[in-house]
Amino acid sequence: MRILVTGATGTLGGALVPALVKEGYQVRALSRAKRDSTAHVEWIWGDLVSGKGLDEALREVDAIAHLATSGPRGRGVVDVPGTRMLIAAAHAAGVPHLLFTSVVGSDRAAVGYLAHKLEAERLIAESGLGWTVLRATPFHQSLDRRLKDFSALPALPVDRSLPWQPVHSGEVAARVAGLFAGGPLRTEIEYGGPQVIDTEELVKTWLRARDLRRPCPPVRYPGRLYAAQRAGDLLTDATPKGEITWHDYLFPPPPDPSDDFASEHTASPTSPANQPEYDPDLHVYGGDEGYERPTRG
Ligand SMILES: NC(=O)c1ccc[n+]([C@@H]2O[C@H](COP(=O)([O-])OP(=O)(O)OC[C@H]3O[C@@H](n4cnc5c(N)ncnc54)[C@H](OP(=O)(O)O)[C@@H]3O)[C@@H](O)[C@H]2O)c1
Repeated sequence: MRILVTGATGTLGGALVPALVKEGYQVRALSRAKRDSTAHVEWIWGDLVSGKGLDEALREVDAIAHLATSGPRGRGVVDVPGTRMLIAAAHAAGVPHLLFTSVVGSDRAAVGYLAHKLEAERLIAESGLGWTVLRATPFHQSLDRRLKDFSALPALPVDRSLPWQPVHSGEVAARVAGLFAGGPLRTEIEYGGPQVIDTEELVKTWLRARDLRRPCPPVRYPGRLYAAQRAGDLLTDATPKGEITWHDYLFPPPPDPSDDFASEHTASPTSPANQPEYDPDLHVYGGDEGYERPTRG
């Protein structure tokens, strides 16, 4: 079975591609950058906004893992028109299963980026294709990058009233990889991290792990998305859930040296591919849109 992965170079894609290889699937990986194929992964050039390269990318494909996104600051250009373009190409190619990754809370807090995700979910559900939607909570790796960016500031204002349920992208990838064997579910499922923590614990654990000191004055983040997050709309009780806590991610145990396959190829949570990265291309979910200056709480 051949699976096309869009967003294969992203945070989740970087873990999903090896997870699918490990499951024994043939993997075709889409990117707007030209990359050399390997023994395990066929890289193909394509752009979801222009639609160029999609027909070739979808040739002899049995399922699509649609992860590509233009992120919270991308005005939904990949999530909505890009998804529409992908659906049309998938119909033409007769692809039986389209799996889309979305964000927990898209249905309860359809604001900004989450509204784009919800619209894409609707397009997929009404596409006539076999489909599955997996909504995830924010990834450890994305929050890590966001906090690194904020740490350039002299202080990190924290809104203690906000709950977070961060999840490891490697565990999300394993969940997604496991969804292809059974075919389209034709429903939305959720996947979240093992713990709910507040912003203070999120930030202070991160500062400790990175050996940094910053004052954390209490504030109240404004905006509709933060209000929804405060009300718990971006959390999920769904099971199974991830097992790797924010603390475990930031203070990881050393990798098992006997696991050669994991260290070379897989989405093992301890593999180098899943350790904190410092990509300046910052994306975060769960509340930075409509961000205004915090007010003292
Ligand atoms: N990050 C989180 O905390 C989080 C939480 C919950 C759900 N999700 C969802 O999980 C999925 C993956 O998120 P992520 O954080 O892994 O994404 P990401 O790291 O921001 O990566 C975005 C990917 O989209 C691709 N892309 C962007 N524009 C494209 C275009 N015009 N045509 C084709 N590909 C394009 C990029 O590929 P190239 O640049 O190589 O073309 C890149 O691989 C998304 O659906 C996201 O909404 C993310």
